Amino acid sequence: MGFYRLSRLALGVGIFLGAREVLARLRERDLTGEVVIVTGAGSGIGRLISLMLSRLRCIVALWDVNKAGITAVKDEILANGGVAEMYVVDVTDVDAVNDAAQKVCDSFGQIDMLVSSP
Ligand SMILES: NC(=O)c1ccc[n+]([C@@H]2O[C@H](COP(=O)([O-])OP(=O)(O)OC[C@H]3O[C@@H](n4cnc5c(N)ncnc54)[C@H](O)[C@@H]3O)[C@@H](O)[C@H]2O)c1
Repeated sequence: MGFYRLSRLALGVGIFLGAREVLARLRERDLTGEVVIVTGAGSGIGRLISLMLSRLRCIVALWDVNKAGITAVKDEILANGGVAEMYVVDVTDVDAVNDAAQKVCDSFGQIDMLVSSP
């Protein structure tokens, strides 16, 4: 395995372990009804974190440029009795980010946390 692939694998493992540690600490708190924006929620790490936060009874605002991805994640959360809404957002577009943040506030009244994946 080359150095690049090895360092990418190590970074991936680090991100996974870090996310697991953060989620373990969050489990110690009651997160019921807290509103969390997850960027890159349509795939990979963002998808997994969205599903885990939903299991912790958060309201999950799914942000991604990939509409099909966040549609599937939203369907999965709703099928498991969770609460989620999806927003097609390019996080490099400041106006789109402000617009989506306002929509989250309009729908759920507040934003408690942001998880930035991509
Ligand atoms: N998975 C790993 O092993 C690993 C290792 C090192 C670094 N990373 C980094 O962690 C992040 C997430 O990795 P992943 O494996 O979950 O990737 P992924 O490709 O599975 O998911 C990334 C998601 O982000 C979305 N996205 C991309 N650009 C966006 C934008 N401008 N606005 C909104 N959404 C956007 C994509 O549509 C996709 O759904 C990436 O930045 C990746 O480079 C991951």
